[in-house]
Amino acid sequence: MKTVLINKKKNPRLFEKDPPIQKAVGILQKGGLVAFPTETVYGLGARVFDPRAIEKIFEVKGRPLNNPVIVHVGNLRQLESIVKEVSPIAKKLLKVFWPGPLTLIFPRGSRVPSEVSCGLPTLAVRMPDHPIALELLKELGEPIAAPSANRSGRPSPTQADHVRTELGDNVELVLDGGPCPVGLESTVLDITEAVPRILRPGQVTRETLEAVIGGVLPYELSSREGPGKSPGRKHSHYVPNVRIILISEEDFTKECERWRSSGKKVGVFSRESFEVQKEGFLFYRQCEGDNTLYAQNLFSVLHEAEAEGVEVLLVEQVDKKGLGLAIMDRLERAAEGSK
Ligand code: TXA
Ligand code: MG
Repeated sequence: MKTVLINKKKNPRLFEKDPPIQKAVGILQKGGLVAFPTETVYGLGARVFDPRAIEKIFEVKGRPLNNPVIVHVGNLRQLESIVKEVSPIAKKLLKVFWPGPLTLIFPRGSRVPSEVSCGLPTLAVRMPDHPIALELLKELGEPIAAPSANRSGRPSPTQADHVRTELGDNVELVLDGGPCPVGLESTVLDITEAVPRILRPGQVTRETLEAVIGGVLPYELSSREGPGKSPGRKHSHYVPNVRIILISEEDFTKECERWRSSGKKVGVFSRESFEVQKEGFLFYRQCEGDNTLYAQNLFSVLHEAEAEGVEVLLVEQVDKKGLGLAIMDRLERAAEGSK
């Protein structure tokens, strides 16, 4: 049984590798796909102006053709080359939050193939806060379309190995930047309507956004089901090949006891340290009672549980406040899909 206490000191150093950026640029220019690290999760990148390369992204991911992808830019000139206009609200936001884990929805510019946003008149754009991603964007000299580098419906990759296991030879090159520091995908904010609305919660919270631009409509959990404005929210998401059971802090010890003797291969992932006897579990991961660490490790624990052959993963719920909202969004969707 593996018992790991996830704490700040034990986290591997980030960005220590020396990736072959020029090779990646060559592959992209020829219409190929390259996976690269961002501060949130690994992206599966293609040249934004190459419709055939964009089609390849959808093929390799098995992505539904009505789920548009996010475009990454390295500077404001690249942004202006792909959108119709940068509104005063957009200017305020990108001044504060870019580079960083905030995706904004713009009116799509005429040069961008409609395949990128599945025919929508809008385009999702962000500037990633990661030295390798920014270097790649600079060296290529144009924006890169990149959804998360997983097969559609599966947990996002937060380490280069997750991408290799997930996509194999379908991706020509994976730039290895170590583990992604945020660990959850960016906040998606629609700024094309009179009042901005959160379409996907992430590290940049509603409160932080409101401090900069005033009123922001909250993320609605119900928008997962309905047609909504964020097409990707309809599909099943983040689902590993492991049954996930969400448990409150109060019930955690009791439920662990119950599952420990169930005869199943059980894994545990908790944010707090509980006084639980660890024998009988296939693996046991606990954080230091910190949402940032919990988010950082969430997807990698799902990948790991799967690789270890865990059948049931017991996961601690957190309050849906601040980063907790994004954590619970991913966990609830993973649990729903894994039933
Ligand atoms: O952190 C991230 O955002 C990562 C890294 C790689 O940058 N990317 C990512 O991409 O999570 P993806 O494709 O897995 O998720 C994109 C989300 C989907 O929910 C999609 O529906 C939404 O953004 N989206 C994309 N274009 C949109 C548009 N024009 N209008 C509304 N939502 C859009
Ligand atoms: Mg994704």
